[in-house]
Amino acid sequence: MTVWQQAFPDGKSPQRVLVPPSPYAIFLVLTVRPGFESTAKDFLSEIAGLTRTVGFRSREDDLSCVTGIGADLWDRMFTAPRPSDLHPFIEQRGDVHTAPSTPGDLLFHIRARRMDMCFELARLIGDALDGAVDVADEVHGFRYFDERDILGFVDGTENPEDQGAVDAVFLHPDDVAEDSALDSAEARPDVAAAAGGAGSVPGNGAPGYPGSTYVIVQKYTHDMSGWDELSVEEQEAAFGRHKLSDVEFAEEDKAPNSHLVLNSIEDEDGNDREIVRDNMVFGSVGAEEYGTYFVAYAADVTTTEQMLENMFIGDPVGTYDRILDFSTAVTGGLFFVPSQDFLDDPDGELAEAGLGIGGAASAKVDGPDIDNGSDVDPAGGDDSADSSDASAVSSACRVGLATRE
Ligand code: HEM
Repeated sequence: MTVWQQAFPDGKSPQRVLVPPSPYAIFLVLTVRPGFESTAKDFLSEIAGLTRTVGFRSREDDLSCVTGIGADLWDRMFTAPRPSDLHPFIEQRGDVHTAPSTPGDLLFHIRARRMDMCFELARLIGDALDGAVDVADEVHGFRYFDERDILGFVDGTENPEDQGAVDAVFLHPDDVAEDSALDSAEARPDVAAAAGGAGSVPGNGAPGYPGSTYVIVQKYTHDMSGWDELSVEEQEAAFGRHKLSDVEFAEEDKAPNSHLVLNSIEDEDGNDREIVRDNMVFGSVGAEEYGTYFVAYAADVTTTEQMLENMFIGDPVGTYDRILDFSTAVTGGLFFVPSQDFLDDPDGELAEAGLGIGGAASAKVDGPDIDNGSDVDPAGGDDSADSSDASAVSSACRVGLATRE
């Protein structure tokens, strides 16, 4: 058993987020049709079984599936407050480049050593949810030579490993205390704006969901002809690493607009703020589409968000990431990745989280009308009509009614 598969001290097991690099992946982003929220919720507890069904037939090919839940769907499926960092993806609009926020209620990040196994699981998920969902995005990714992206650079080298990866990715029971120290919308005006209200700001009283994490995904397409016109030296300057050897430039040789400078960030104590990435290459010769599917897990999603801001807005403002001149973000989504225990039994976990004794002041309660739209406003704007009604949530929780169906 590896360090990341062990249960946390409180007994919660994470989903299989931290797996060795797999040669194949499918990223399936679905939106749930209005009225099918309970179908989606019931399906959460079936995913582990489906994954076993496909994976057991060739265990050495290590099939895994990580399931993420978007902010809008959370509000439609549960009365419990959103996990404190779950909100719609925050669009980053720089002077030159934009990271858009696009619809997505459920993310399935499927990985294996064989594409047929990934595909079979994706197919079974599609069958099980047939009529209840629409496919917002589907990308079949593959590993490219020695872990390179399609731009030709080794991708993933600086990912934290072992305990460092666990610490970067999974929420710990103590995290909720830290969250609570932050003060509502004032602490994250960007989040409040994206969420259209205070429903998902830090410190909203949501439980910590230990063993869980957050994932941000973006689909990028590349201008390969423009990139190939650059000299290797110019390409290396864009990243801050050597292309063939993957050796990192000395600090003093890194350009301020290089990918490495803008994505190396520290906390106020000088510690590295880290995320775990598992980008995959995808493409189509016929469609002349060459892409990177960016996927990053982090316990503190503001780390990934800060990196995105640095890349698109620039640090300082205007010094945006050079690789964006050859890379266009076409999707953007943020999902909560609950622990495996939560996925297997959401109602039981929410009840166990103690929602029945209050602390749900920021949960959304909008009466029996659960169809508040699967047509997710990319900016999260349509959440603004939702009210916060602490007493209604509390009474729902008191009777153990942690979900809304
Ligand atoms: C077109 C999309 C992207 C490509 C092709 C790409 C590629 C790369 C490559 C080749 C490296 C150097 C090797 C490594 O440490 O992995 C790297 C590093 C890194 N990237 Fe990206 N990346 C992309 C998007 C992003 C985004 C959107 C983020 C964050 C929001 C990000 C965060 C990072 C981080 C944190 C590092 C390590 C920096 C360090 O500590 O040296 N990347 N990326």
